Amino acid sequence: MENTLKEFTAMLCGSFDNHEQYDEMTAKGEKSFPFARHVNTVCNDRIKGLPEGFEGIFVLEESYYTIGDNTNAMPHLFLFTMEGDSVKLSSYELPEGIDKKTLNYESLPTLDYSMLKVSEKFTPALYKECDGAWEGGSESMFSPVVRFKLWERFSKECLEVSEIIEVNGKRTFGYDVPLLYKRTNILGQEDKDMETHIKRDEALELLKKYNKEPFHIQHGITVGKVMAWYAGELGYGAEADFWEITGILHDIDFELYPEEHCKKAPELLKDVDAEPEVVHAVCSHGYGICSDVEPMHEMEKVLFAADELTGLIWAAAKMRPSKSTKDMELSSLKKKFKDKRFAAGCSRDTIKEGAERLGWSLDELLERTLKAMQASEDEINSEMEKQD
Ligand SMILES: [Fe+2]
Repeated sequence: MENTLKEFTAMLCGSFDNHEQYDEMTAKGEKSFPFARHVNTVCNDRIKGLPEGFEGIFVLEESYYTIGDNTNAMPHLFLFTMEGDSVKLSSYELPEGIDKKTLNYESLPTLDYSMLKVSEKFTPALYKECDGAWEGGSESMFSPVVRFKLWERFSKECLEVSEIIEVNGKRTFGYDVPLLYKRTNILGQEDKDMETHIKRDEALELLKKYNKEPFHIQHGITVGKVMAWYAGELGYGAEADFWEITGILHDIDFELYPEEHCKKAPELLKDVDAEPEVVHAVCSHGYGICSDVEPMHEMEKVLFAADELTGLIWAAAKMRPSKSTKDMELSSLKKKFKDKRFAAGCSRDTIKEGAERLGWSLDELLERTLKAMQASEDEINSEMEKQD
């Protein structure tokens, strides 16, 4: 697939909102200006039956507009393709039966490509590159009297979106200025690389302060290493420390407070002045089990998915003559995964849910996490030998 198209969609995908603009407008007394939020996610993995060598990228756009106490959800399914030097956006109908109010990437069912219908009323938009930004739009007639005007400009800093509906030439929806969306991070704040001031040694000391069982120390070190591996693998190399530290600390409260797992953690993490992002990520790994903090960022979803799985992989390694993950084949891990009596404490449901949240197949999650463990095993073992 063309790199241009991948770069284009990478610029477009993630979480965005217009909070800066919204604050400015409300300060000026604008009461009907919306707080708008977008979550855009590539979703080719949710579309089955794509033709061999398919050269387009499907994106689910979750779009929320809040005015006063009212939030409207307007999700869209878009296909981006190259057309010469331009990027073309075509809109697709969301299949009937999908609840648009609650639709998000997690709840998007697998769709059949042959059943998808291009929206006939929407004129595909063309975007052209200009000084590192992409600009384009289109005009559609939704009915003989209803005109929809779309104009957008996308850059790394900002997505500018202007959507105007006119009925008989009179504007009935839209604003004088384009909405300015900026990228946000897991806490809905302005996006920056996720960083923590906590040093690795400090994280390990804290883990050992509240955990004495060597198994728990090993689990923290393992999940830390696996998270750091994933950071590199998924293009978050600059955040590898954050990913590792969070991995080391994720079960900080488990040994002493098993009944309050993920609830006691924020208090224990105060010892090292952990940033809110670290606390959020730690608490989110027990979502739906012992925590109501939902994994939002990809880092949190990886932690959720890989945590239990690393336990299963270690248990499977111990059964081997080599006692190692290094000569473990994916097929043998899959067998252990299917054997419900093996390492019964490792919840297969949580692991499956984790893969789903990431939009990965279960096999993909097993294969990548096995690779992560194989790459980290020597370091984990040598670190465990150093523990007293
Ligand atoms: Fe864990």
